[in-house]
Amino acid sequence: MQLAQSLDRLGTERAFEVLARARALEAQGREIIHLEIGEPDFPTPAHIVEAGVRALRDGHTHYCPAAGLPILREAAAEHLAQSRGIRVDASNVLVSPGAKWFLFFGVLATCDPGDEVIYPDPGYPIYESAISFAGATPVPLPIVEERGFAFTADDLAERLTPRTKLVILNTPANPTGGAIDRELHVGIARVLRDHHCFILSDEVYSELLYEGRHDSIAAQHEMLQRTILLDGFSKTFAMCGWRLGYAAVPQSLVEPLNRFLINSAACTAPAIQHAGVEALIGPRAEVDAMIAEFARRRLMLVARLNDLPGVSCIMPKGAFYAFPNITGTGLSERELANRLLDEAGVAVLAGTDFGAHGAGYLRLSYANSMENLEAAVASMRGLLETVAV
Ligand SMILES: Cc1ncc(COP(=O)(O)O)c(C=O)c1O
Repeated sequence: MQLAQSLDRLGTERAFEVLARARALEAQGREIIHLEIGEPDFPTPAHIVEAGVRALRDGHTHYCPAAGLPILREAAAEHLAQSRGIRVDASNVLVSPGAKWFLFFGVLATCDPGDEVIYPDPGYPIYESAISFAGATPVPLPIVEERGFAFTADDLAERLTPRTKLVILNTPANPTGGAIDRELHVGIARVLRDHHCFILSDEVYSELLYEGRHDSIAAQHEMLQRTILLDGFSKTFAMCGWRLGYAAVPQSLVEPLNRFLINSAACTAPAIQHAGVEALIGPRAEVDAMIAEFARRRLMLVARLNDLPGVSCIMPKGAFYAFPNITGTGLSERELANRLLDEAGVAVLAGTDFGAHGAGYLRLSYANSMENLEAAVASMRGLLETVAV
């Protein structure tokens, strides 16, 4: 039986493949340090877990409105006002099973075959997958080390055409840890002002920023009305497995995205949404402690990476990834990633798992203990000293 041809256009996330390979090695008795997966290594704060369990016990075990519980939509709107100074009505906030849902359906709701979508490269692989699946044309926007893993407004302007329908932004960014500051957002808004296109601003790492203040394109004049601003709970609240995200969306997209929700997930589990309310309005001490620990690891890991032969690494501003340049090792990023797993027992991702412009880089997640990070770098040194050019 023939499968759908559209499957040829559906990408994937290499992190899950590398995780499977690493698990297979572990099953053979090998010890592997996991730096491939983008998931906080902390438990979900207990008061959030409790809120979810309580909601289940209280009988929140049925369908609920596809768009989300009003109480969570209101809490999310309030959070956007507090964190970014953005005023959105709760009716423009939609809740989904994971922020990722909006990447796929946000693209499907805005793009037709023939439309062009500008997206960061290297960037989260689901962007290109969703664009290609929609039949639209992916237009990579290079994110370069020389610009501190950012781009300029001119770089964006050069890629705009009358067919550009959507621009995807990600700050702080996976995989580079780069961030878009207020000044660049001003420039982006100026470039896009006279161009009729949507913006998808992926801000799932908004609270994991170690330098400066998080900024959103939606805070720029007239940008909110065309921006799908998405945020979630996976990263900030260590809730990856709960599958909960939300987005503030332009008025014209509320009904279509609601329809996509009805067609796909039906709704997001209501007990999970109650846990989300607690995350947004409850105590912050555990989250703050987790972020402080990520900040400590970032400094240690980057310093150690810069000490390795053939490796240099600029300081990431946010998220929990280091993106070292490994061109000095004489190995390609793929070969080095494979050898690190097979010979050194360290699972990392190749920069090209995030797009062609990731050539010459690795992505290491520091969502792992200080001890494991130190051991990983020591094993990397062992391998690199044998291949040093
Ligand atoms: C840039 C980016 N956007 C979205 C997501 C998905 O987040 P969620 O778990 O809320 O679906 C991830 C997860 O790794 C990510 O790195």
